[in-house]
Amino acid sequence: MLMINDLRNSFLNFFKERDHKIIPSSSLVPKEDPTLLFTTAGMVQFKPMFAGSVKLEYRRAASVQKCFRTSDLENVGKTKRHCTFFEMLGNFSFGDYFKKEAIRWAWDYSTDTLSFSKDDIWVSIYLDDDEAFEIWHKDIGVSENKIIRLGKEDNFWGPAGESGACGPCSELYLDRGAEYGCSSPDCKPGCDCERFLEYWNLVFNQYNQDVNGKLNPLPQTGIDTGMGLERLATLVQNVDSIYETDELYSLVKYICNESSLKYENDNITPINIIVEHSRALCFAISDGAYPSNEGRGYVLRRLLRRALRFTRMIGITEPFIHKIVDPIVEIMGECYPELRKTSSNVKSVIQGEEKRFLETLEIGMERLSEIIDELKQKQKKQISGKDAFVLYDTYGFPLEMTVEIASESDLEVDMSGFEIEMNIQKERGKQSWKGSDAGHEKFFESLSVKAGETEFTGYDENITESDILLIGKDEDIVDCLCEKETGIIITKATSFYGEAGGQVGDRGIIKSSGGNVFKVTDTKRVNNTIIHEGEVQSGEFKTNDMVQTEIENIERNLTRANHTATHLLQAALRKTLGDHVHQAGSRVEPDRLRFDFTHFNPMSREEIEEVESLVNHKIWESLAVNTEIMTLDKATETEALAVFDEKYEDIVRVVGIADYSKELCGGTHVDNTGKIGIFKILREASPGAGVRRIEAVTLKGLWTKNKAQENILHKLSKELNVPESDIPYKVESIINRLNNLEKEIKKQKRESLVCEVDSMIEKAVITNGIKVISHQFEGIDTDEMRRLSDIIRSKEQDSLVCFGSKVNNKALLLFAATNNAVKKGVDCGKMLKQVAKIVGGGGGGRKDMAQAGGNNPETIGKALEEAVKLASNI
Ligand code: SER
Repeated sequence: MLMINDLRNSFLNFFKERDHKIIPSSSLVPKEDPTLLFTTAGMVQFKPMFAGSVKLEYRRAASVQKCFRTSDLENVGKTKRHCTFFEMLGNFSFGDYFKKEAIRWAWDYSTDTLSFSKDDIWVSIYLDDDEAFEIWHKDIGVSENKIIRLGKEDNFWGPAGESGACGPCSELYLDRGAEYGCSSPDCKPGCDCERFLEYWNLVFNQYNQDVNGKLNPLPQTGIDTGMGLERLATLVQNVDSIYETDELYSLVKYICNESSLKYENDNITPINIIVEHSRALCFAISDGAYPSNEGRGYVLRRLLRRALRFTRMIGITEPFIHKIVDPIVEIMGECYPELRKTSSNVKSVIQGEEKRFLETLEIGMERLSEIIDELKQKQKKQISGKDAFVLYDTYGFPLEMTVEIASESDLEVDMSGFEIEMNIQKERGKQSWKGSDAGHEKFFESLSVKAGETEFTGYDENITESDILLIGKDEDIVDCLCEKETGIIITKATSFYGEAGGQVGDRGIIKSSGGNVFKVTDTKRVNNTIIHEGEVQSGEFKTNDMVQTEIENIERNLTRANHTATHLLQAALRKTLGDHVHQAGSRVEPDRLRFDFTHFNPMSREEIEEVESLVNHKIWESLAVNTEIMTLDKATETEALAVFDEKYEDIVRVVGIADYSKELCGGTHVDNTGKIGIFKILREASPGAGVRRIEAVTLKGLWTKNKAQENILHKLSKELNVPESDIPYKVESIINRLNNLEKEIKKQKRESLVCEVDSMIEKAVITNGIKVISHQFEGIDTDEMRRLSDIIRSKEQDSLVCFGSKVNNKALLLFAATNNAVKKGVDCGKMLKQVAKIVGGGGGGRKDMAQAGGNNPETIGKALEEAVKLASNI
């Protein structure tokens, strides 16, 4: 029997023998198509080649492509064949062969390699595609009645994403026999039943659909075929569902072993869902996607949360999905080595996400059951948008999950009501951070449109001569800016760097002859217009004045050093932590730098030290920093690192440091790493899930930091009256002395308390022959209270002790009773349960001993009074 891996290999070999270049799968996160969340088909990586927008280096290709589709997500696991993640076998022609060869090879591979019976293969073609009909019928010999003509819905492949190659298609079906069918006399390919299973789609690319949906003829026709590997394997291995094919079944078995469940009855759907979703998550996270609340991150979050709902259904309440990463890597790591490289990160990401959701899943499910019960009682059919939103916002239930659970009880969700709630929240969010900046931004936008592109000369010059294009003041364009007035100046060319790509804007002065000086306090960049903000210090400035832009030289040098250090840092992080590290944000200032990157775990001390040392070595090697201008395509080819989600123009700047680092970057840099001097990481923390942040300093930043530390040491040395080198020993000895003193004080306090025991007993209230002794302490812990209660109980055979103590602004309660008192009906645990509420807490225990804690130490007295009252009712 052909196993999944045999299918991959046989397919690629078959087309290799027919002169196809074997191309590895591209990432699930499409790098060059912002309109696509995920790679949805084998053809995605070849879109530019079909469109004819790149030079072709080969005209035939074949691949096994990782794909991810989200349509029908709620069916995944419930049906036998739907997947979110799947592999697609495909062969492609870019202006080379067309229908004849594509059809012939699909037939030969099916009948020769896969040994499908010729009689069992049916085909469909596009309504008016007579050419395909002729080939299938005349060249291949498929009988007329087995060639079905289907409409646009079934047999016209639309583009992947908003635009791209498309065309009519022809599909191959395998007739699995009447026993799989619906027995309808009309049953044939296209029928919804299980008899005719579509397994291969041959697309004859003839058009390029533009973003407006218009079809334009392609400069050259092409072939794009796609065959879902899992689906093919069910046919070849003659099993009932994709979950019974060899690789997925290994995962089913893993889950059964771990959970001691059998793959039968009600367990089947949950296990399928867990298998499918964990594999999809593993591949997507390995390719750099992270669970979040937006875009592809949200899809992953939905998948994981859906999977967790079903793990709970089969009785697993602990984080579990991350455990399946290892078996997935074991099974598929050979074909997809990136899985091996990233597995520990993938595991951490999943585990972290699992933990977060499981914290609220239980309560969320309870809340949702209540909502459903209430609706049923009132015979209502719809969950309100508000309730669905609370489930989303407070308990982390993706809307689609609420919809799916609701539908299991025949209920709907008010989707538009949900949307309204979501918008209200978004607005609230916007108001709280945007403030009044929106008007300002709009003004800058309009200035940029008016002024057009500014020439930036600051890579090579500190001072540039130019004339003033526009002057702005209080959100108006004006002709002149007078002394002491603040405003903005836009020149034709400038040496000032406008804030962009994380690097802060330059400061400095703009001056003109006659002593006119405008102090630039910040520089912004809007589109490609550079805008100087500041104040006229002397004289005045008019439109068309000839001026000199002069940056603050030292600050810029420091910024340069920090920017180049950021590049070295990214390279060192990738070396130390792995290639999953990508820039997720940055801030480069003269005095410090901040770098956010994708990585899940906090860095260990050793990792931080290694990164620091790598960066410093590259600095001390004094490596040349080169910048090159090239096309985006060329930059991508040379594997220069780009910032994900950033839109680049066609011509880009690539900054390279020897063969150590290469990044697309428009910022300013030192020309030699030696100028960075020294690099030090100050902090490593997490600004959000899946992202870590490093704050670091070089040159002046480090000098300032050192001076501050020096001051602290100096002060300590003076206060402690020892040389700086002795400070650690001196501090240690002080701490020891303090500890001893504390112990001594405690001992004395304890002794004095024992003396007080008699007076406590004297104050007892006697009820039903039981002495109820209550007392409130300060700073006495539970152990100490227990010790005192033991002394009292040994002295008084019929006693109940009710103690309370305020410790670290918290309330502690301890009740203890003698055996006699218990016999007379005292139950400390029960009493405490009622009383603990008064101190804002909870607790419990046995009849003879119970303890509790709470947050309101002010009410200890009241709680003790209540305890005495309860005792009197026994
Ligand atoms: N693009 C087509 C599909 O995905 C054929 O590869 O079905």
